[in-house]
Amino acid sequence: MAGVALKFSAPWRLVQLRSSLVRLSSVPSLKFHTAASPLMGATVEQFEQAKTRLSALKNDPGNEVKLQIYALFKQSTQGACNTPKPGMLDFVGKVKWDAWKSLGSISQDEARQQYCDLIGSLVAAEGGSSAPDAAKDSGSGTAYETLLVTTEDNITTIKLNRPAKKNAITTEMYNEIIAALDQAAKDDSVLTVFTGAGDFYCSGNDLTNFTKIPEGGVEAMAIQGGDLLRKYVKAYIDFPKPLVAVVNGPAVGISVTILGLFDLIYASERATFHTPFTNLGQSAEGCSSYTFPKIMGTAKASEMLLFNKKLTAAQASELGMVTEVFPESSFQSEVWTRLKNYAKLPPNSLSLSKQLIRSMEKDRLHAVNDAEVACLVQRWQSDECFNAVMSFFQTKAKL
Ligand code: COA
Repeated sequence: MAGVALKFSAPWRLVQLRSSLVRLSSVPSLKFHTAASPLMGATVEQFEQAKTRLSALKNDPGNEVKLQIYALFKQSTQGACNTPKPGMLDFVGKVKWDAWKSLGSISQDEARQQYCDLIGSLVAAEGGSSAPDAAKDSGSGTAYETLLVTTEDNITTIKLNRPAKKNAITTEMYNEIIAALDQAAKDDSVLTVFTGAGDFYCSGNDLTNFTKIPEGGVEAMAIQGGDLLRKYVKAYIDFPKPLVAVVNGPAVGISVTILGLFDLIYASERATFHTPFTNLGQSAEGCSSYTFPKIMGTAKASEMLLFNKKLTAAQASELGMVTEVFPESSFQSEVWTRLKNYAKLPPNSLSLSKQLIRSMEKDRLHAVNDAEVACLVQRWQSDECFNAVMSFFQTKAKL
């Protein structure tokens, strides 16, 4: 098959890329655990250091990662992609443009930060320190395909890292998040923070999960999916330390419903909160059938969970679902400054106080989780759900 020349700046001057592999949808998967990263916007100096460390890498990280590096570099230095889309025949120009465009409107600060995180992870994977200087903490060295997990300043950050798919959660990603939560529960960090790479926080369950039918058919798929979902939600219910969501953009489905199990939710003004379950022939999960009415009252919760109402960040904050909303321009710096201060609080006192707030609810939450999963296992086998998922992919195919 004919190869396509994909050009990047040093250290890989010319890379042969098989055109059949040029699928932007798979661009951002990372194969490394980032052992450490700065949590606030990277400084210009750190960005420059990251560029130097990039040129010193010994191994070619592969085209997917190089595209991500390219996109983050462009976003960091030029802002959002506003250049015209290259023509159909300019294959290389098009994949590079797509990669840049997929970062949406994330700020240059945020892009610089993600760039530094990414280079740090590549350096760490080669056995070096992921941090540009010796002042950073180190992580456990666990490898994640779909997440960037970092520990710094007493904060473990779990960043969903499939920006080209709006951080939709695949089966693998569910398992990795469960593992990352387990790791964060045991490490020395004080806070655990979830956020998303790119312009979305998360687009919910990856609908392609429904298209991977195992040998036992749809029933086996639904039962396996139910077991995984139960385990996933359980990991949040039982999580011992304060859990923080830094909602950097739109959030859909399970990334919204699970927020009722978080202790602090900071949102950018760009964030929206959408649970389109009945549109998809499904039903609520993440304990939201219990936590949402409790947080916002049954009437408002029903509007979201039954009638698919999408909330703006301001509306979510008014309803008590979000702790505070920040302007997009200062979101990252304000939030991380605050979190770094919170992470200096005495860890045992924080963790015990969280457990006091939640412990009375635990048994009930586990029961709610079981009931929601049982309902969904049925829903996933229904025609309503099947038709809705097919319709999503058919609409996409027509575009
Ligand atoms: N499952 C699978 N793929 C998803 C996805 C999901 N939940 N969310 C986004 N994607 C994919 C899209 O199919 C697209 O893939 P492609 O580039 O191969 O075509 C890519 O991510 C980018 O999404 P796109 O739809 O082009 O971006 P958008 O900004 O126009 O819309 C969403 C973003 C999230 C609003 C839209 O993709 C969507 O509605 N997704 C489904 C959300 C959902 O129903 N989640 C489950 C809730 S229970």
